[in-house]
Amino acid sequence: MSDDLPKAKHDHQLLPFPENFLWGAATSSHQVEGNNNDNDWWEFEQSLPVNHRSLTACNQYELYQKDFKLARDLGHNAHRLSIEWSRIEPQEGEFNQEAIEHYKKVLHNLKQQGFTVMLTLHHFTNPVWFAKRGGWEDTKAPRLFERFVKKVVPEFLPFVDLWVTINEPTVLTFMAYLIGVWPPLKKSKWATFQVYQHLAAAHVRAYNAIHEIIPNAKVGIAQNVSSFSAFHHHSIREVVAEWAADKIANHLFYELTGKNTHDFLGLNYYFNRYISFNGEKARIPSLVDVQITKKEVSDLGWEVFPQGIFDMIMDFSDYHKPIYITENGIASTNDDRRVRFLISYLEEIYHAIETGADVKGYFHWSLLDNFEWLDAYKGRFGLVEVDFKSQKRTPRPSAYVYKEIIEQNGVPHKLLKLLGHGIHIEEVNVKSEISNNKSAKHI
Ligand code: BGC
Repeated sequence: MSDDLPKAKHDHQLLPFPENFLWGAATSSHQVEGNNNDNDWWEFEQSLPVNHRSLTACNQYELYQKDFKLARDLGHNAHRLSIEWSRIEPQEGEFNQEAIEHYKKVLHNLKQQGFTVMLTLHHFTNPVWFAKRGGWEDTKAPRLFERFVKKVVPEFLPFVDLWVTINEPTVLTFMAYLIGVWPPLKKSKWATFQVYQHLAAAHVRAYNAIHEIIPNAKVGIAQNVSSFSAFHHHSIREVVAEWAADKIANHLFYELTGKNTHDFLGLNYYFNRYISFNGEKARIPSLVDVQITKKEVSDLGWEVFPQGIFDMIMDFSDYHKPIYITENGIASTNDDRRVRFLISYLEEIYHAIETGADVKGYFHWSLLDNFEWLDAYKGRFGLVEVDFKSQKRTPRPSAYVYKEIIEQNGVPHKLLKLLGHGIHIEEVNVKSEISNNKSAKHI
């Protein structure tokens, strides 16, 4: 071997995360609580075969203490959960104090155990009365949501650190009103347009209402962000389509609401999407199917693409707001894959932080296997396995890997070995013109 060949330093250190980093997991009420029989999803599920219904889900409505204790034992210092609007306001304008008291106990329990609490006020489900009077198409919808927010925030404020007004408004609009596979099963461009505006207005109202009650509150949304890229970079029309898709799917909601109604950015990252025109004559771009790219996918067929989370964080860093990864995870019954997923995505988040992004926390989706909407119990996202018959919880090995990462506040080298070694430019024993020239970064 010649001496002038570049030598990589063999770095055995951990990839450290910032001090006070939040480490936790996320869930949502309908997916874990069970028996949410006053909402539009429950109603919709009754038209599906029994194995597609949420039923008792994880029965977390009753088992919350055990679940939070488990999360604590697994090292988590933060937790994201949602409250169920339909339990709190089962009839229009009538609030159920018992449900409010229940959630106070739930949130108090989290606080008692020392968790930083992120509370989502709307996670896909709507009370049946709300859906019946027109759901999010109703021009009154933003005001109805605001009334709910004004009612619950004073009740829960001692226990909540971070408020998420609406989970994935873009996904909700797309699934329920554009392709019409979620309740209310609409397929209408006009409804899509209206609903999106109403969700934006609802967020702004909720943001202002929370700030009136708690002036220094931290309020945001959890936005599903997908990394889009042109399948053929030489194709101008694909590059333009990439830009448009990114704008509409990732950024439009922030533009409609105004960036000043977001104290932080909550990013849910699951999808990498290649965009292409299917054939020379195609007029409309479409997403390239993973059947074509043959990339590694989850049990639900979603591509595994760790680099995408780096790209999205860097993209959103331009907003100059604190960032929380409010969801990220993989549906897999093969836990080795979850272990690799966790390490590789955290490695990319580490790089984003090193590049200057202000990432303050990571909430893995999910703490438990739970009701995965149209995929019901087929998609297993849990760090903890749930036997839905006995309600037994069994932490998977990935839960302990995560625990170790949390304890070290970083990704230890011995875990990185599972992925192979990443070699960084500073560690390579050669000073090339490019690595010496800072401006070259922008080439
Ligand atoms: C949603 C969750 C869902 C997860 C996995 C997110 O879009 O917020 O409710 O379970 O993705 O599909």
